[in-house]
Amino acid sequence: MKIAPSLLAADFGKFQQEAARAERAGGDWLHLDIMDGHFVPNISFGPDVVKALRPKNKMFFDVHLMCLRPEILIEPFAKAGGEQIIIHAELDQKVNDLIWQIRNLNLKVGLAVNPPTSIAAAEPYLDKIDLLLVMTVNPGFGGQSFMGECLPKVQQAWEWRRQRGLGYRIEVDGGVDLAAAAECAHAGADTFVSGTGLFGKRNMKQAVTRMRATVEKNRKRN
Ligand code: DX5
Ligand code: ZN
Repeated sequence: MKIAPSLLAADFGKFQQEAARAERAGGDWLHLDIMDGHFVPNISFGPDVVKALRPKNKMFFDVHLMCLRPEILIEPFAKAGGEQIIIHAELDQKVNDLIWQIRNLNLKVGLAVNPPTSIAAAEPYLDKIDLLLVMTVNPGFGGQSFMGECLPKVQQAWEWRRQRGLGYRIEVDGGVDLAAAAECAHAGADTFVSGTGLFGKRNMKQAVTRMRATVEKNRKRN
């Protein structure tokens, strides 16, 4: 089980302190949401922010590219210290090349599926990825409500993994509060991104501890 606080919900005036707060709180991964104003109707931050955080933070950097042209951003984010790069299945014909490009830089590969996209879009790539991200909100903004209708996709991802003897992680992202985390864990998720549910809490350590206990208690076993 991995808990991944999303920096999108941090105070943008003090990224460094906020990233340190997530680390002290016991978060496993720092989830970095990159938005280009095209793939999603919002802009977040770029590789220079990630580069500035890298030397002072030991967390695993999980870079989520919500971008129309990830091919021009993969290398800059790799150089900035990203350890895993997630691209979107909605980019269709580009996906194979993007996976190859990430792999070639010796980084972990993630593939994300938006709520309106069928999980079948990810199926051809399951043996080539380290993580499958089931989006539980339409990406673009933090603080939205969890979409429970995405849970069957988590179950399907879990079934495929078991049936095919694969090892990808199953991550959920969007509106993941304690109750949603429990449902996702029950459905088979093992990696939990949460912005508002963690950064938004004054006592983030307590929030991380509670989320970890909740997902451990509800986790789906083989
Ligand atoms: C949504 C982003 C999420 C977002 C989650 O576009 O991909 O990672 O930061 O934030 P919360 O947990 O507030 O929904
Ligand atoms: Zn994200």
